[in-house]
Amino acid sequence: MASIPLKKNHVATRPGMARFLGQWGMFFRQFVKHPGMIGSVIPSSQMLVDAMLEEVDWDATRLFVEYGPGVGTFTQSILERMHPDATLIAIDLNLDFVAYLEAELTDPRLRVVHGSAADVRRFVTESGSQQADYVLSGIPFSTLPDGVGAAICAETAAVLRPGGAFLVYQYSAFVRRLLTPVFARVVEKTVWKNIPPCRTFRAWREEALAKAA
Ligand SMILES: C[S@@+](CC[C@H](N)C(=O)[O-])C[C@H]1O[C@@H](n2cnc3c(N)ncnc32)[C@H](O)[C@@H]1O
Repeated sequence: MASIPLKKNHVATRPGMARFLGQWGMFFRQFVKHPGMIGSVIPSSQMLVDAMLEEVDWDATRLFVEYGPGVGTFTQSILERMHPDATLIAIDLNLDFVAYLEAELTDPRLRVVHGSAADVRRFVTESGSQQADYVLSGIPFSTLPDGVGAAICAETAAVLRPGGAFLVYQYSAFVRRLLTPVFARVVEKTVWKNIPPCRTFRAWREEALAKAA
């Protein structure tokens, strides 16, 4: 699978409403084509985005990884908060979403990668880094093929730096059983104002807790 670094100006190419409607249309078409891979009919709400990103230590973040960016609902907000010297690697299995993000999101700090989150360590190494500060996931864990979710969680724990965290949002609690064997501490919340209400998980490795204490 190809790694596609983007080096362009930080400008969204279409005005607000046209871009918003285009995102929803694109997202829905991809859900009809690949329901198991996409896992949701509509993109996440801004309230969910804000709830997930509010606890990130942006000053300490130099490498942020996003799994399943889709049409970039979180990606744009991450870039708005991220340090000028930081890098965002956005990994998506769906080539149409990768092409869409390339066309719509232009920021020299963003690298869009076509591939599976299970290969996160290779993508991080190829970007010139060894460890990520945060990994955020929008992947539908409950509909992934057997074993893929567990592999993604194990690879994520391996790529996080001490003190970093794995941030997951899901419409079911299924992912909890994948996180708890790998991460020492998992904090779960519900964002009621998202439609439908969404569960959020913040997971840390034991090693990370010890070094961060
Ligand atoms: C529910 S959508 C989330 C889209 C967007 N982040 C949002 O919140 O609106 C799930 C995304 O995960 C992607 N995906 C599914 N399996 C994946 C995998 N193994 N690796 C990377 N991306 C994956 C899909 O292509 C899709 O973009």
